[in-house]
Amino acid sequence: MSKKDPIKERLTQQNQELPKWAEDFPVDTKADGHVARRDFIRFLCLVSFGLFTGQAGVLLKSLFDKKYPPSEPGAFRIIGRDDLAVGGSYVFMLPEKKEPIILIRLAEKDYVAYSQKCTHLQCPVIWRQDESKILCPCHHGAFDVKTGNVLYGPPERPLPAVKLGLRADGIYFEGMMSRVAAGGPHAV
Ligand code: FES
Repeated sequence: MSKKDPIKERLTQQNQELPKWAEDFPVDTKADGHVARRDFIRFLCLVSFGLFTGQAGVLLKSLFDKKYPPSEPGAFRIIGRDDLAVGGSYVFMLPEKKEPIILIRLAEKDYVAYSQKCTHLQCPVIWRQDESKILCPCHHGAFDVKTGNVLYGPPERPLPAVKLGLRADGIYFEGMMSRVAAGGPHAV
């Protein structure tokens, strides 16, 4: 035999009879409490799951950041490491300045990059692998591929060098160098 609902009993005693609203909502208090507890547990599970997935996201992001540490402002990926053959060159534009840059792969893990504008009268320079030089066809200027320094011809200043980043997923542009560092702008 089921026990009487204490609230309904109290209501009946107070009002001589069960109020109409209590008849219209016949869920007894005990069952109502059970439903509320179940809802509360479900709510706790949802909150726990949300917190867990949030923490897992933060953990995954930190692992990803460790593998690919944040670049300097304005850095971007130029090309995959093996998209350029050893001895080859690749010209790309700096997105905002519209400056052409020539990237050259000197060895398996040795890359250099310079502004492609000749420092004489801005003609585009070209990489000549057979001569191991960067040449300017306009007035026969030449630059050292390892440092960007002038070898001969009318230019008086070295080619502006690019700071490169060599990462697992490719070669990165990381900014222009104010002057060529000792040993040249190599990313090895
Ligand atoms: S523009 Fe390059 S040598 Fe004159």
